[in-house]
Amino acid sequence: MPKGVDPTVPSSARVYDALLGGKDNYESDRQVLQLLNDLYPHAAATARENRAWLGRAVRYLAEEAGVRQFLDIGAGLPTQENVHQVAQAVDPSCRVVYVDNDPVVLSHGQALLAGSKNVTVFEGDLADVDAILEQAREHLDFSRPVAVLLSAVLHFFTDDQDPYRLVARLRGALSPGGHIALSHGTGDIGSEDSKTFADTYSQRVSSSLFLRDHAQVSAFLDGLEPVEPGVVHAVHWRPLPGTTPRPVEEAPVYAGVGRLV
Ligand SMILES: C[S@@+](CC[C@H](N)C(=O)[O-])C[C@H]1O[C@@H](n2cnc3c(N)ncnc32)[C@H](O)[C@@H]1O
Repeated sequence: MPKGVDPTVPSSARVYDALLGGKDNYESDRQVLQLLNDLYPHAAATARENRAWLGRAVRYLAEEAGVRQFLDIGAGLPTQENVHQVAQAVDPSCRVVYVDNDPVVLSHGQALLAGSKNVTVFEGDLADVDAILEQAREHLDFSRPVAVLLSAVLHFFTDDQDPYRLVARLRGALSPGGHIALSHGTGDIGSEDSKTFADTYSQRVSSSLFLRDHAQVSAFLDGLEPVEPGVVHAVHWRPLPGTTPRPVEEAPVYAGVGRLV
């Protein structure tokens, strides 16, 4: 058991891993998973669509935007199609720094990445963005473009915690050609189910979930040039050619990418 981990308290990283069908989770996480699935039949699909968006976004950033450095905050447990695998499939020289505040992520990440080149993982809390930046600077050159990834993590912050200021600090650290890519759960798709999901999740899991609407999510990318198609439902963000996006009600997540010019 990694230091600092309480297996009896479900964590967002482990519940998300369970939603994705992973094995790095405990009985308490699986019990919540069962509860969430009963409440909201699209919970697993939502996690998978979010993860698929992240893969498309990283591929876009490496392949089309030419980014070679990635700072993934709230990275989650290693799973399939990890950010470094997607980016390094485009160019093996891509550097990736993973950061998460869950010690389980750190221990599994270090084990998985032991043989990977240009990849680092460290423990950090997005609430202390300056500490993350300081440590990330040991591995990434911020005078060159860096893509900051905030996939499904900002919805763990209330407005009182001022996540907009945290994202602005990250934006301030970028140089031209840098990007911020983010996804965020929403309750404005017309279904009460996702709100019930958020309430239950917040009662049971170590991190509470705060859904935001389209305008609130878009505001995170203020000061950046929107990458087409802007902030949209994650399933509609550059879907792979020849695929039919899942109905948005089955994956209530917004996603978008902004570029510093
Ligand atoms: C839903 S998972 C998303 C994982 C991955 N980014 C993805 O989209 O596939 C959220 C992750 O954010 C992490 N997290 C939550 N609050 C955080 C914080 N304040 N600082 C850093 N990581 C955080 C959790 O531990 C978890 O691993």
